[in-house]
Amino acid sequence: MYKIAIAGTGYVGLVTAVCLASKGFSVTCVDVDADKVKAMAAGHCPIYEEGLPELMKEHRNNLTYTTDYRSAYKDADVVYIGVGTPEKKDGSANLDYVRTVAEQIAESAEKDCVVVIKSTVPIGTNQSILALLQEKAAKGVTFEIASNPEFLSQGTAVKDTLHASRIVIGTQTPHARKVLTDIYEAFGQPIVNTDIKSAEMIKYASNDFLALKISYMNEIANLCEITGADVQDVARGMGYDPRIGNKFLAAGIGYGGSCFPKDTKALHWLANFNDYELKTIKAAIEVNENQKLKLLKKSRKYCSSLQGKRIAVLGLTFKPGTDDLRDAPSLQNIPYLLESGAEVFAWDPVGIPNFKKLYPNELQYCETIEEALHGAELCFIFTEWPQVKALDPAVFVRQMASPVILDGRNCFDLKAMEALPVVYDSIGRRAIRNLAK
Ligand code: UGA
Repeated sequence: MYKIAIAGTGYVGLVTAVCLASKGFSVTCVDVDADKVKAMAAGHCPIYEEGLPELMKEHRNNLTYTTDYRSAYKDADVVYIGVGTPEKKDGSANLDYVRTVAEQIAESAEKDCVVVIKSTVPIGTNQSILALLQEKAAKGVTFEIASNPEFLSQGTAVKDTLHASRIVIGTQTPHARKVLTDIYEAFGQPIVNTDIKSAEMIKYASNDFLALKISYMNEIANLCEITGADVQDVARGMGYDPRIGNKFLAAGIGYGGSCFPKDTKALHWLANFNDYELKTIKAAIEVNENQKLKLLKKSRKYCSSLQGKRIAVLGLTFKPGTDDLRDAPSLQNIPYLLESGAEVFAWDPVGIPNFKKLYPNELQYCETIEEALHGAELCFIFTEWPQVKALDPAVFVRQMASPVILDGRNCFDLKAMEALPVVYDSIGRRAIRNLAK
């Protein structure tokens, strides 16, 4: 059994660590945040992710948490790098954390080691990290590098890792390939072996393709609104074609999260840097920026001013199943509502503590959907939480002062809404206007 260390305990690092531990590997998780390490060692899971706390607990004997990278990397056979690569101001990926970890590995490793980059990194990064490792390596220590991109989604991260659609392994030496193949044999999923640059590219190309698919459907949705077609019917009709597939065809108020916005910009930047313009990705980014403001534009049709209006907001996170707010449409829309003088009453099952850190007093946080809707003149739906989708639409009529519902995630059936005295305007579908002016 290989001795494994993992740098970074975010979504990628921690989920990878726990899933490897569940397959019997002994894994040491390294993080710079001493409080986080202490909490994990005491059995606390630092991220909201279905199934992760249970798995972490079940396999605690295979998991060690530490800030002491020297002892973790000293005799590791394999070190995974799973730290963040956030977006820089110009759109390129910030590789500072990856480089710092690589330097720490180089200064600590006392035996030969395969370094596996799981973080999403621009094409060519593995090569430059290998050069850094070799340059700083202690005498006699040989490093090999492998690119092993991550395809997990937040909210389903454990399932996505244990039952991955594919495992991509980019290597340049037979030994590194063998080590990674040995490790992933236990997962029983299809393995795609490639060279390193192709593995790096597979990650960006996959994420950007999905982002493009969403932006494409959002444009079709906008055209559906103009022409009178229904985007959900359109998506249903398209999705039966196996060449298209029925996933990621849901129109809405744009993609958010820590990956698609960052990865589209990073690939676009990389192309520009190499004197090439990725026109499709550029368009996907532009469409997404506009789409995020779609509900605000719609709101103008129903009220000329937001000043003093009581507004309900359902959903703060970038998607259901996570408490993550990164690039969530709520973060672009709510400040505008507040600046326009509206009073905002927000509900989210798990996103409120994080939102409160950014806006402690500016809005009212509600424990129930009913409380948020009570007395509201306008309701914005930003996240399709199951609790929202399960609502009896009559609740809008019962609770709101004037039931004008702007749904950015197409949570409700048009027929159900049609029967009620409401305004219901969603994405890519006909608007229902059953309220007397
Ligand atoms: C995404 C990818 O799906 C993962 O495969 C990848 O590993 C991950 O990024 C990453 O690079 O780490 P994630 O950001 O967690 O995962 O979330 P997604 O489920 O892909 O959703 C992203 C955004 O697209 C959300 O805002 C969601 O609301 C939006 N979306 C998704 C749509 O607007 N329409 C759809 O049909 C699907």
